[in-house]
Amino acid sequence: MNKIQMMERAEILVGAVDDLPTIPIVATKVLQLLDDPDVSIEEIADLMLSDQVMTARIMKLLNSPVYKPTQEITSLKRALVYLGLRHVRELALTTSVINAFDGTSGALELNAFWEHSFGVGMVSKIIAQKIGYKDLEKAYISGIIHDLGEVFLSNFLREPFLEVLDYIKIHPVKLVDAEAELLGTTHCEIGLCMARKWNFPEAYCDVIAYHHSPTEATVDPILCAIVNLSDLFCTVRELNYGGREWISFNLSEEEAWTILKKESPEFAHMDVERFCYELDDAIPDVKELVSSIFTPL
Ligand SMILES: [Fe+2]
Ligand SMILES: [Fe+2]
Repeated sequence: MNKIQMMERAEILVGAVDDLPTIPIVATKVLQLLDDPDVSIEEIADLMLSDQVMTARIMKLLNSPVYKPTQEITSLKRALVYLGLRHVRELALTTSVINAFDGTSGALELNAFWEHSFGVGMVSKIIAQKIGYKDLEKAYISGIIHDLGEVFLSNFLREPFLEVLDYIKIHPVKLVDAEAELLGTTHCEIGLCMARKWNFPEAYCDVIAYHHSPTEATVDPILCAIVNLSDLFCTVRELNYGGREWISFNLSEEEAWTILKKESPEFAHMDVERFCYELDDAIPDVKELVSSIFTPL
């Protein structure tokens, strides 16, 4: 099964779902507006206030222990000033994506899924900083949304996807390879179809499609390599969908490592063991963030 055939299969599967979740048009507009260097806080606030659910979630997140404001923030405009516009991009997109996939009927345990996603986001941001990547927020968002296709498989292909999850419990293969073998497509192609339907910016589509094969990326191979490596780190640590996926990796054999070493020679000398301890220290923050997102509004 080659990439084109897997893409065709993904298009058929995604196309067959009538009630595919949508993300608010406001979220896509906010992303576009934030790309404009002259945009003002007033413009962004006016746009966001037209989506009550998004506004409520952002205010809630912001007043959670994760952001630790010195006093309660009650207006969206103050929130935007406090956060800075770049942070808003992250919140607008992630809160919308999370809302699109509420529910408990899927094969995946959503809390564990988002802990993995936010964990990959956090590690991506750390790696991006270490290699001097220009847009840390973009790295963070990319990590959070990289596995979107999994939620589709979990919700809309529940039974076949459960077979995939059972398969990797007894066979030493990666989840993505088991999907290709048993479903004829993977969460990468499925995620790409969804991201296109939702008008995600090209760089995010690229990460969703190529985070398991960063050398094939066409828009931003460095970003894909960052997310790929973060994904590997999270999968072998405690942010791995509850230990479902069999995986071990040898850093020197990873194509992402080769890409990033070329980008930043200092990164090549990183003390990997120490880095893993640093990540373990950050795990409670990720869990706290996810639990604050999922407590009811
Ligand atoms: Fe993935
Ligand atoms: Fe992942």
